[in-house]
Amino acid sequence: MTMNSLKEKINIERLPQHIAIIMDGNGRWAKEQGKLRVFGHQNGVGAVRAASEACAELGVKYLTLYAFSTENWNRSQFEVDALMRLLSKTMSEELKTLNNNNIRLNAIGDLERLPKSNYEALMKTIDETKNNDRMTLTLCLSYSGRWEIAQAAKKIAEKVKSGEINIEQIDEKCFSDFLSTNDMPDPELLIRTSGEERISNFLLWQLAYSEFYFTEKFWPDFGKEDLYAAIVDYQNRERRFGKTSEQLKENK
Ligand code: FPP
Repeated sequence: MTMNSLKEKINIERLPQHIAIIMDGNGRWAKEQGKLRVFGHQNGVGAVRAASEACAELGVKYLTLYAFSTENWNRSQFEVDALMRLLSKTMSEELKTLNNNNIRLNAIGDLERLPKSNYEALMKTIDETKNNDRMTLTLCLSYSGRWEIAQAAKKIAEKVKSGEINIEQIDEKCFSDFLSTNDMPDPELLIRTSGEERISNFLLWQLAYSEFYFTEKFWPDFGKEDLYAAIVDYQNRERRFGKTSEQLKENK
């Protein structure tokens, strides 16, 4: 018996170029099995691998994952330490796979807050994958959307002060250029797992016109078929960017 994959229902011509994911529910997944939250994070790594592989195979150019928020620093020291250890371990274990699959690793967020060893492991992997061009995998670490917007405002203010740009030049395009995502298109699709339906300070600027897809599945259970389901759902929607259905048809 052959299982039908939802992959066959995906229209490759209309693939989102950029998918962003809020990986949620690791703690609840572990709790359901009477295990520590950290066990959920460890099993979340497999889902990161599956999502990256599925996106690269399809031809999605950018995958952005919310791995650690600014607010996550407030979790217990035990959990923060475990997440950081997991990050370093994953970096060294996955470097080969990233290179074999021609995937470039990127990271955004207040990276200087990371422990030195994490920062170094991350920079090493970023540097050693910098020439890969099949897909860019961005990890958001110590990241929050408001932090990023405030940072951009600060950088623009400095440029105005030094006379490099004048106030009249500040528009949406100029502002986007000062965000850490300035070299990628905005995500067309945002996925959040675990049944929560919030944006939680993720890519606030970039998600302005994204389609949101929510699933009840906890992150460690999110596999390739779940990613395909999200893309199929996305492709059945009409993206209007404030226009009417009729206007969109006329433009075609
Ligand atoms: C959310 O679940 C998940 C996180 C805060 C961490 C995400 C980390 C991983 C998937 C593993 C490491 C990733 C990489 C890239 C090495 P939660 O803890 O908020 O779960 P809960 O809502 O059930 O408590």
